[in-house]
Amino acid sequence: MSDKPLFPCRSVIHTMLSYTVYNRAGGQSKSVLTRDLAAAHAEQGQKVLIIDLDAQKGSVSSFYDLDYDKNDGNSDRLTLHIIDRPAGEFSDLIHNAEPGVDIVPRHEELNDLGEILDDKEAIESRGIEGNEFDRYTELFRVLKENGIPEEYDVLICDPNAKADDAYYSALYATRNVLIPAATTPKGVASIDDVFDTASNFADAKNINIGNLGVVATQANLQKGTQKEVAEELRDDHDAICYFKELSIYDDTDYAQESLFPHIKNLDRVRKSQADVLPKYRTLLSHIQNKVGSPLPASKVDEYEFWTGDDYWGDVSVPVANENEVEAK
Ligand SMILES: Nc1ncnc2c1ncn2[C@@H]1O[C@H](COP(=O)(O)OP(=O)(O)OP(=O)(O)O)[C@@H](O)[C@H]1O
Ligand SMILES: [Mg+2]
Repeated sequence: MSDKPLFPCRSVIHTMLSYTVYNRAGGQSKSVLTRDLAAAHAEQGQKVLIIDLDAQKGSVSSFYDLDYDKNDGNSDRLTLHIIDRPAGEFSDLIHNAEPGVDIVPRHEELNDLGEILDDKEAIESRGIEGNEFDRYTELFRVLKENGIPEEYDVLICDPNAKADDAYYSALYATRNVLIPAATTPKGVASIDDVFDTASNFADAKNINIGNLGVVATQANLQKGTQKEVAEELRDDHDAICYFKELSIYDDTDYAQESLFPHIKNLDRVRKSQADVLPKYRTLLSHIQNKVGSPLPASKVDEYEFWTGDDYWGDVSVPVANENEVEAK
């Protein structure tokens, strides 16, 4: 792991909280965490924009069945805005996913983002000397030029698992990373890789990238090996909380909605599902706290938050003007 800590930071898109959900390994719950945290922010009255930077099916916009019209070869798309050749208004790329949550959906052309930026770089480098094109700053420019920080309270980027141009563009734009790790050796092993790639990039660009924390995901505590890995995530990586492996995630895929409306609308919430939304709220309270905007105490009174359990131990819920809510 890099010896350089990643300090939590307010994005340079000052007015908004922004972060990238990332782990170099595939299938670590990046996209479901993006979807459900976005809904958690929306529940707190925040307006959220998700940028889906994963060209593959199964990404966060696929959960909502939001996609481009593949038959329309001329349709505008994010990649065109990134190279400053938009074919329409940026606002027309934004779709509503559920109340308070908007998405710029994935597009297959994101697969070619590297080559598209290579071409742009080649053209720009023929221009005026000293006027160098910086490929990783273009997403940030697009967001700023289109008033996203003024329009939204929260921006979440969901790149694919490769450390590619989309990932670095997301890091540059959001300046914070949240790291989900499934309770498997692969999930844990990839955490250091996130620190390395993010801190090397921060050094190279002379920017600060914040670590919002690690979250254990897909935990099946009936399996001894997974339990051990979950404990390693908690003890060695300061994982904020853990999410159990639950079949309800498959149900939300079919229902095309996040866990928030889904669980709230269930006739009967099972015991195993009861702590899921409180966990998202507690995770949210930690994220807000890390960027210096803890939730007001009134919110913690209004909703149910997770304060730990017998297995994980006590977990604090940071709130504004008070140190923390004591574990029950
Ligand atoms: N806690 C969970 N319990 C059960 N299934 C889960 C859980 N978290 C995620 N899943 C399922 O695991 C699969 C992978 O999750 P997800 O797509 O969020 O991972 P990802 O890290 O975004 O993957 P990729 O690397 O492909 O982008 C999905 O089908 C999702 O529904
Ligand atoms: Mg994904």
